[in-house]
Amino acid sequence: MEETEGQGPVGVVNMEGNGMKLVLASKNQKKLVEMNDILSQLGIQVCSEAEAGVDVEVEETGTTFEENSLLKAKAVMEASGLPAIADDSGLCVDALNGAPGVYSARYGGEGLDDVGRYRLLLENMRGQMPRTARFVSVITCCFPNGDVLTARGECPGTIAFAPMGEGGFGYDPVFFLPPLKKTFAQLSPEEKNAVSHRGKALELFRARLEEYLKEN
Ligand code: IMP
Repeated sequence: MEETEGQGPVGVVNMEGNGMKLVLASKNQKKLVEMNDILSQLGIQVCSEAEAGVDVEVEETGTTFEENSLLKAKAVMEASGLPAIADDSGLCVDALNGAPGVYSARYGGEGLDDVGRYRLLLENMRGQMPRTARFVSVITCCFPNGDVLTARGECPGTIAFAPMGEGGFGYDPVFFLPPLKKTFAQLSPEEKNAVSHRGKALELFRARLEEYLKEN
């Protein structure tokens, strides 16, 4: 296995202080940044598939966040030979019976971009009550020895009547947090990470990873 100075074998936990490296099973640059913002504080470095020298297309055939998260992490771990982490996430809207849910990235079909998808959501929410929704994130980490760690985080909110804010990605401009009176897109990255589904899932993941590292 490849060695890097002071880091031990790449991808293997170094308990002496330099942490560990995980490959993110995603092409979403914004997810990579959010994950690194949260996990770098713990000495965990998350790198892209490209940095790990792999390019894996995973068909998300699962019907739950858990299934798709595992599919992605396992495929990238097998391709790279390194521990891989995946986030499968989405927005579940109560008035739409949980849609778009696991299909959040594909809502409205291939032709739409982020703006097109949240506009479609606003259209489908016209006249609908209640406007309550939640973001869900399921983090899965697959290790080359077959071990798997998972963690789920949820963030409740409502669907705004119009987009607000410039930050974040995806449905952020239309996901409103009543306690903060702001959409996700109006929060700084730090503010979003402190309350978001992904922030909560990664916090739980961190605790489970620490436990796992103590035992192994
Ligand atoms: P995934 O990459 O298959 O997990 O797709 C997740 C999709 O859910 C993304 O493409 C976004 O549309 C949406 N999503 C997940 N997390 C967020 C978030 O934090 N903000 C906005 N949209 C999100």
